[in-house]
Amino acid sequence: MSDKIYDVPAEWAKRAFLDDHAYRAKYEASVRDPEGFWGEEGKRIEWFEPYTIVKNTSYAPGNVSIKWFEDGVTNVAWNCIDRHLPTRADQVAIIWEGDDPSQSRSITYQELHDEVCRFANVLRNRNVEKGDRVTIYMPMIPEAAYAMLACARLGAIHSVVFGGFSPDSLAGRIRDCGSKVIITTDEGLRGGRKVPLKANVDAAIAKASDVEVDHVIVVKRTGGSVDMKPGRDVWYHEAADLVTSECPAVPVEAEHPLFILYTSGSTGLPKGVLHTTGGYLVYASMTHQYVFDYHEGDVYWCTADIGWVTGHSYIVYGPLANGATTLMFEGVPNYPTNSRFWEVIDKHKVNIFYTAPTAIRALMQAGDEPVTKTSRASLRLLGSVGEPINPEAWEWYHRVVGEERCPIVDTWWQTETGGILITPLPGATRLKPGSATRPFFGVIPQVVDAEGGVLEGACEGNLVIADSWPGQMRTVYGDHERFMQTYFSTYPGKYFTGDGCRRDADGYYWITGRVDDVINVSGHRMGTAEVESALVAHPKVSEAAVVGYPHDIKGQGIYAYVTLMDGVEPSEDLRKELVNWVRREIGPIASPDLIQFAPGLPKTRSGKIMRRILRKIAEDEFGNLGDTSTLADPTVVDDLISHRQNKK
Ligand code: PRX
Repeated sequence: MSDKIYDVPAEWAKRAFLDDHAYRAKYEASVRDPEGFWGEEGKRIEWFEPYTIVKNTSYAPGNVSIKWFEDGVTNVAWNCIDRHLPTRADQVAIIWEGDDPSQSRSITYQELHDEVCRFANVLRNRNVEKGDRVTIYMPMIPEAAYAMLACARLGAIHSVVFGGFSPDSLAGRIRDCGSKVIITTDEGLRGGRKVPLKANVDAAIAKASDVEVDHVIVVKRTGGSVDMKPGRDVWYHEAADLVTSECPAVPVEAEHPLFILYTSGSTGLPKGVLHTTGGYLVYASMTHQYVFDYHEGDVYWCTADIGWVTGHSYIVYGPLANGATTLMFEGVPNYPTNSRFWEVIDKHKVNIFYTAPTAIRALMQAGDEPVTKTSRASLRLLGSVGEPINPEAWEWYHRVVGEERCPIVDTWWQTETGGILITPLPGATRLKPGSATRPFFGVIPQVVDAEGGVLEGACEGNLVIADSWPGQMRTVYGDHERFMQTYFSTYPGKYFTGDGCRRDADGYYWITGRVDDVINVSGHRMGTAEVESALVAHPKVSEAAVVGYPHDIKGQGIYAYVTLMDGVEPSEDLRKELVNWVRREIGPIASPDLIQFAPGLPKTRSGKIMRRILRKIAEDEFGNLGDTSTLADPTVVDDLISHRQNKK
């Protein structure tokens, strides 16, 4: 915990929407009278039928139900595109920067309208209707945003799957939501390397044989050769040639689903987090405006991938709802060189830059020179998201990248929350490196102890949110029981975030990381159970237990304890084979960093693995193992300690 405090820079106090006093007053109003507050705020988007009911939410045990603006009728694509046309037809909506630095494009709002309508017509011609699920498995190209907005235009529900996921993971997601249409590209391109997206889709469809996929729409990106199955697969450019650039936006109810996004939890397969239309868009738009202090004419860049929620809310929906210019980047931070981010900022005169701590830490290791040789004169505000940012990385980001003139907004939120919940506002909040600071409007965080007792003042415990906000997820797709069980049963009547947290004497929140069996690897959420089940699917593995451990660049690394089948000898080759196996089963982001072959795992007499002990060993805290007397065989612990793998 850092005790440094950074005041709001004078320039910011003048230019920002809100100062500290205004923040406090607005926050007070938002929690005193949520109906009145959100009733007004809901008008930031256009409604075909206005709402009369603002908030209808209940966290009651066994009966959780969340509805916002429920009798209003609107359309997300209309709000992100059409309503801007009278004033912004020629303004750039999307700047696209390719993996190859010589490639970029600018798409105006008029062009965005035409492209999205064409895409929607291509889908409509394939019988995609309101409520149908469409899986999008694409790289970071404008067509990915067109595809999302085209679904929204028709009232179809998109499920974007990160292009780094394996065919198996993709198959599971196609199956879970039963999508009959998949949108992909021939290949993806990242850091100069090609990713066989269409081939992965073919493999996924073969695996999800219980789902009938009627259409695969293939956008040409690299021109690499792919197999096209007649009758099922179609090239997007050929289909788009046959349709017009007009397509009516289908009016949908505020609570009509907008998208499903799969995310990892402590147990089982990834859950389909469901977000709906009206409340989500109001919340994404409002947070984008205030947290990034977005003003007319600003160029805004969020480096996330659209496969994650950050890409949904803060590359596509929030910025476009606000008529912003949003930059979409296909590449990676270190290709062709470690200056890439900063060169892109200079090339497109980026004012607001939002990235993840893991990228900051990796670039910090490369030294100051790749940063300082660029200008970055356009930069005004920096943001961080996805995991706790350590004070050293914060200081470097502030001093070297932002030259001490750019505030940093450390934004805490989750796939489930739809938008940012705890964050500084740049004109209002004094910053403490490593703290996400204070709640956004309408958000009531509480810190509770293990029994659910609400702690007051400076304290440490688990983070819950006491009441609903409009951007909150509505359910787990197809499994409302699981939704209630996962988020509302630990502390009945409250939304449990799964995060631990400290609140200091100034009321600032410091997120300490997950308190469940979820690990956060380079800002990507991974369930330990998922990696374990991938490992035990290998014929030579009898048992596996996976935990997180501190990793200098990734935040957390994946540490796997593996017990082999009788007669199988441990070896370096087998270690490599298992890493590759997990990459193939889930995707490269799930690769174990360290594998320890363990003849036995620490279990209680009833056979439950004591993960607490495995976590301590992986964290190198042998002296602090706690009570091991309930173990069936306490000697396994000594063996585990003596064979601990070294950190990379
Ligand atoms: O542990 C918290 C961490 O990321 C988790 C949510 O992951 P995901 O759903 O993938 O969404 C990431 C992008 C919103 C949280 O439970 N997390 C996210 N942002 C922060 C953070 N931890 C600390 N500080 C943050 N700013």
